[in-house]
Amino acid sequence: MKKIAVLTSGGDAPGMNAAIRSVVRCGLAAGWEVFGINHGYAGLIAGVSQKLGPRDVSGVIQAGGTILGSSRSPEFETESGRQKAIDNLRNNQIEALVVIGGNGSQMGAHLLNEMGFPTVGVASTIDNDLYGTDQSIGVDTALNIALEAIDRLKVTASSHQRAHIVETMGRNQGYLALMAGIAGGAEYVVIPEVETSPDLIAEEIKNTYRRGKSHCLIVVAEGAHWNAERILEHFRENKELGYSLRATILGHVQRGGAPTAFDRLLATRVGAAAVHEIEEGRSGILLGLSCGEIKATPYTEVTSHRKTLDLSILDIAEKLAR
Ligand code: F6P
Repeated sequence: MKKIAVLTSGGDAPGMNAAIRSVVRCGLAAGWEVFGINHGYAGLIAGVSQKLGPRDVSGVIQAGGTILGSSRSPEFETESGRQKAIDNLRNNQIEALVVIGGNGSQMGAHLLNEMGFPTVGVASTIDNDLYGTDQSIGVDTALNIALEAIDRLKVTASSHQRAHIVETMGRNQGYLALMAGIAGGAEYVVIPEVETSPDLIAEEIKNTYRRGKSHCLIVVAEGAHWNAERILEHFRENKELGYSLRATILGHVQRGGAPTAFDRLLATRVGAAAVHEIEEGRSGILLGLSCGEIKATPYTEVTSHRKTLDLSILDIAEKLAR
């Protein structure tokens, strides 16, 4: 009987559990044994795994986080750490590994594959910065959480005639900030992909005030140089903006919570596709979403490209902020 293993790695993302469930149940349906590795690559090196049956993944499709646990493992970044991981897999007669995670995790899976152990990736990160997929598992939920916060903050900002800065996660990418800003009707968005300055930010805030708006909502990406903390610090004593200033950093709250229907369905589809690819004898690929279809992209392509943000939507955002 074929044995496969599944792990979640890096920052958790809502929908990871739905992907684990899909891999486990589709693997069992193929007549295989499926093992869950605890705590990502750290657990793989330490040899912490458990055999998973259909009941082990009951009631998890609606749960955020990851039932397997996750980690960022410095040891796995070394060749000897990866060799230990491969030895553990081979000693347990495991023939293929499904890696659910983002950029760093998929780079790790690629390196394992290059070292001769078959791996298949499932794109999962709230940052949406992974090449090879239009959207990763967790993005939709994180975006909706950010949006709910923005809607609420706009209400209190209006009551007090304030400019309110909201900082989203996203690492070096502005995807979450830009999309949350547009969907939340923000007056200004600050992202790493577009240069800005205190003068430009001040101008936007003052213009918003002159247009008679009761609030000015600014969404900033954590990866932008002018993040929430720097903007707040810079304008702390400034009395000419029209509004007083407040800031909220959303942080890890965007990673918790129940996955949306979109994320559950995406996770289920990519998890099933990962098992199908292994059944067909393919590995060294990342499964993601492309124009509504589940698509496999070779790791060599994924790891040699950077995903870029489509900025054409910024023009619309500027018009809508009037
Ligand atoms: O990659 C997901 C992410 O949430 C990023 O948006 C953020 O910069 C980072 O992880 C935070 O990492 P940690 O959970 O290790 O603090």
